[in-house]
Amino acid sequence: MTDAPTPEPTYEKLVFSGMQPTNTLHLGNYLGALKNWIRLQEQMPCIYCVVDMHAITVWQDPVELRRATREVAAAYMAAGVDPKRSILFNQSQVFAHAELAWIFNCVARLGWLNRMTQFKEKAGKNRENSSVGLYVYPNLMAADILAYKATHVPVGEDQKQHLELARDIAQKFNVDFGAPGFFPQPEPVITGPGTRVMSLRDGSRKMSKSDESEYSRINLTDDADTILQKIRKARTDPEPLPSDAKGLEGRPEAENLLNIYAGLADTTAEQVLSEYAGAQFSTFKNALADLAVAKLTPIAGEMQRLLAHPDEIDALLKRGAERAAERARPIMADVRRLVGFVG
Ligand code: TYM
Repeated sequence: MTDAPTPEPTYEKLVFSGMQPTNTLHLGNYLGALKNWIRLQEQMPCIYCVVDMHAITVWQDPVELRRATREVAAAYMAAGVDPKRSILFNQSQVFAHAELAWIFNCVARLGWLNRMTQFKEKAGKNRENSSVGLYVYPNLMAADILAYKATHVPVGEDQKQHLELARDIAQKFNVDFGAPGFFPQPEPVITGPGTRVMSLRDGSRKMSKSDESEYSRINLTDDADTILQKIRKARTDPEPLPSDAKGLEGRPEAENLLNIYAGLADTTAEQVLSEYAGAQFSTFKNALADLAVAKLTPIAGEMQRLLAHPDEIDALLKRGAERAAERARPIMADVRRLVGFVG
């Protein structure tokens, strides 16, 4: 007699994602993640978090951290996160994140963390002087997701390795504590033409908050003039736009601008090429600047409006945190029981 196969556990579909409140959000954050967050709200319940505990893995001025936390919350809402429908809060207000991260510190292996490329990039030559928090950062990220048993995680390409680690941690926890299927395997949602937006100054580098050059990125708070200037100054090559994607090979700056256009216009790079094949970059940049201004300046305007009332943002984050804590509570009770904690 053969055993019947164990049925696959089913999980309620749930989105979790977050961004660090370090500096101002930029076009990469918007196209790589935030735009997908808005879309996913139509499909399943979503939890969107301002990950202030992740931010302090590198030094943050406390006054600036508080400001940036409110600004990121405002950016989420200005871009279309609906705090009534989705849960919006800042990470440090829900203790489950820290608690589960500690347990995951004891589940994840040093060898796994040693492979994390983002740590290597961020620590650089200064490894010995990096915070321990920066090293175990991916464990906290796994805790963020799994404290809610989230199933879908919309992020940019650069977070893929961290999500693979979260899946490994979930799997090992389930095996170690004899709880098959307790944690789900969260799915990365990495889609669209903007999953890896590159610097406007160097097509081989990711657009990043920490780049010294302001001209490398478009911030969500930039005004129309600034956006125009930055796109005008963006690096390109002397060739006109090709007629198909093959013609973009070896032209990372051209490819990046095309992907940005496609992301902002909600279309594909192929579609944009069919419209602009043979055009000079001067023409294309004008069209891109118009599009970027049309899409981004309303977000900046709405952010400003929201940030004029920081008390309202704080109240909103507090309410969101209460809802998040409520969702995590039964899961954390099970975790404590499985681990063997009394009480
Ligand atoms: P963070 O704050 O660096 O970035 C926030 C989101 O923006 C995406 N992103 C990009 N996408 C496309 N092109 C770019 N140039 C670009 N730069 C950033 C990131 O992939 C991310 O989706 N560890 C995370 C935050 C985090 C998290 C989580 C995410 C903490 N816990 C749990 C998901 C689930 C981070 O540092 O993102």
